[in-house]
Amino acid sequence: MVVGRITRGTTGTNRLRRADRWLSRHSRFRALAAPLVVDLGFGATAHTTLELADRLAAVNPDVRVVGIEIDPDRVAAAQHSATDRVAFLRGGFEIPLPHGERADLIRAFNVLRQYEEHEVTGAWQTVCSRLSPNGLFIDGTCDEIGRVATWVALTPDGPDSFTIALRLAGLDQPSIAAERLVKALIHRNVDGEPIYRFLSELDRAWAVAAPLQVYSPVQRWIATVTAMKATGWPVRDTASAWRLGEITVDWAAVAPQR
Ligand SMILES: C[S@@+](CC[C@H](N)C(=O)[O-])C[C@H]1O[C@@H](n2cnc3c(N)ncnc32)[C@H](O)[C@@H]1O
Repeated sequence: MVVGRITRGTTGTNRLRRADRWLSRHSRFRALAAPLVVDLGFGATAHTTLELADRLAAVNPDVRVVGIEIDPDRVAAAQHSATDRVAFLRGGFEIPLPHGERADLIRAFNVLRQYEEHEVTGAWQTVCSRLSPNGLFIDGTCDEIGRVATWVALTPDGPDSFTIALRLAGLDQPSIAAERLVKALIHRNVDGEPIYRFLSELDRAWAVAAPLQVYSPVQRWIATVTAMKATGWPVRDTASAWRLGEITVDWAAVAPQR
């Protein structure tokens, strides 16, 4: 049974570059000999699946990518773009890979945003059950041109981390990410919820670091993320990731209050 429903297929070239860059650096991806990667809900065209394959292949030429989409017409159209490395098939959250294979990475961008909040946990569980033991699933959302993105990374054990990735040039306030929060958080950006406090403190740290803007927005962002870490947020990675406009924290720090 195909799990899910057809939704708007809006996509665009290069819009998922921030998530792809994060995935291609991830230790779980780097540890794999011949990774099997799924792009779930690729949309009206195959562009973002092909871009994902190219970016991952630059790190590991043995990667295979399968674009899975619930709309049969979109799958049929994508067949013209299939290559030795990239295949397309119809399916939903059940991730129907041939021979029962499990995926090492699954990227679902701008898919769950079109579902209801109460559907997210079930979808996460179904998708995570299709991961290999050290696999990783990212459920993310971004704007039309990929300047603002957020995503949750999940392992077979459940949600693990939360990332915001922003174009720093011209950034007014990091809380611009509020408009593009993943479905699990977008309705929780209210006083009393951890994500609200996180975005508020991120804005405050960005404002305090304003004098560094004369050097570069990158220096300002690194100071912002450093300050967040210093005040106790479980910030991951180092300045080499932060300079790309990212901040990743433990999921537990921003997870909705029950
Ligand atoms: C907005 S498009 C996103 C396209 C691309 N991932 C992007 O971010 O540019 C969402 C796509 O997900 C598909 N979709 C929705 N639910 C799905 C599911 N459960 N399994 C597979 N595809 C799904 C929709 O049919 C639609 O084509």
